[in-house]
Amino acid sequence: MADPLIQKALEARKNAYSPYSKFAVGAALEAQDGTVFTGCNVENASYGLTICAERVALAKAISQGVTKFKRLAVVADYPEPVPPCGMCRQALFEFAPELELILANTKGESEKTILSKLLPNAFQLKR
Ligand code: THU
Repeated sequence: MADPLIQKALEARKNAYSPYSKFAVGAALEAQDGTVFTGCNVENASYGLTICAERVALAKAISQGVTKFKRLAVVADYPEPVPPCGMCRQALFEFAPELELILANTKGESEKTILSKLLPNAFQLKR
């Protein structure tokens, strides 16, 4: 039985707006208090304005005052469990370096890892 967080990411993926890439992504970000914020990718005719599913979920949480996170599930139609892009890794690292990642695909495959493993030597603002 798949993790319920993957199910939530799959549900969010249905709302993906990806007419240009035709690559739909869903994400579900679980806060420390158990609240889940979902996201899908939102593309734009001006391609560079595209925002990934993970950062949509993150921005929803932050904008509601939630800043502590436990787990993130990401799902797409991908040959292996889909890894988050570099920009999303850095954005998530800001709030949860040890975030548990559940990478999944629509074939039902999934694997777990930790954000800090996917972004070694991450940039942090130090003065
Ligand atoms: N995308 C995500 O939503 N998350 C990722 O981690 C990888 C890429 C989206 C952005 C774009 O809409 C489409 O997938 C193809 O790159």
